[in-house]
Amino acid sequence: MNNKNQNRNRNRKLSQNPRGKFQGNQRNQGNQRFQRNQGNQRNQRNSRNQGNQGNQRFIKRKKENLGFQGKKRKSGGFKGGSTVIIEPHRHDGVYIARGKEDSLATRNMNVGESVYGEKRISVQQTEQEKIEYRLWNPFRSKLAAAILGGVDNIWIKPGCKLLYLGAASGTTVSHCSDIVGPDGIVYAVEFSKRSGRDLITVANKRKNIIPIIEDARHPLKYRMICSMVDVIFADIAQPDQARIVIHNAEQYLKNGGHFIISIKANCIDSTISPEAVFAGEIDKLKEANLKPKEQVTLEPYERDHAVVIGTYRPIRKKN
Ligand SMILES: C[S@@+](CC[C@H](N)C(=O)[O-])C[C@H]1O[C@@H](n2cnc3c(N)ncnc32)[C@H](O)[C@@H]1O
Repeated sequence: MNNKNQNRNRNRKLSQNPRGKFQGNQRNQGNQRFQRNQGNQRNQRNSRNQGNQGNQRFIKRKKENLGFQGKKRKSGGFKGGSTVIIEPHRHDGVYIARGKEDSLATRNMNVGESVYGEKRISVQQTEQEKIEYRLWNPFRSKLAAAILGGVDNIWIKPGCKLLYLGAASGTTVSHCSDIVGPDGIVYAVEFSKRSGRDLITVANKRKNIIPIIEDARHPLKYRMICSMVDVIFADIAQPDQARIVIHNAEQYLKNGGHFIISIKANCIDSTISPEAVFAGEIDKLKEANLKPKEQVTLEPYERDHAVVIGTYRPIRKKN
């Protein structure tokens, strides 16, 4: 391969995210157009394939370690014939499916149904009772990625009341619904009407999810629906995310309650380093009495993301 092609390949790899999609690197696109015009189409195809293969190998390696092989398989049931052992994770309500590959899992509240095509594992308890678990994909859920990143406490547990900001179609919300179980509740806020429709479909099958199709910037709009909660989880990827979380905490988070925020650095400021963005967000939270306790980055599942977990208005212990 000549130098020109090698450089082109390197640029392509840098412009791709771990899922293998182009991120709109305009200079590259310009180059591609130029090359097409020059009639260099075969070279271009070859180099694109090589760039993709490199990335796909990376993803496959990561997924293999976690039980997500990246192949399209029918949902429902773990890999045919393999023995799987389910063990409780140290986070209450979360499980580990130990098989050929280990995976995170939650106990399915809605037995017999997947939410986003995830695999299910059935365990026959008694003749009548069957327990089902759903595998939890860390590439689709920042909360799962944070658990695998080793966070000390997710605070979301059976019986807990959770306010979830940025519910999207209900992927992670459905696992939170499994974790909090029938005695808990998940208030799921999403402002996109399109995602909101999918969210409502998920909520119709799970009694503990209350879908709220509103803008989380205006928490008073859902004061008739939402009660005080134990935990706020936010994954809204907005530049004013800290302010949104603070307003919601002031309205709905119990003193001594907990917050979990996923921060996507380049949504907040793409001109400074991710570490500087994370530090800036933490400062904003501290000023509003949201005391961060731990922080993990979400590599290799998400680039330049961190999850910050902490306590709201910590209650001082009496002597
Ligand atoms: C990164 S996605 C969330 C993915 C989701 N947490 C999951 O794991 O399945 C961010 C979502 O936040 C929603 N969002 C952004 N700003 C919002 C706001 N101000 N109020 C409510 N939802 C918002 C977007 O529409 C989008 O669906």
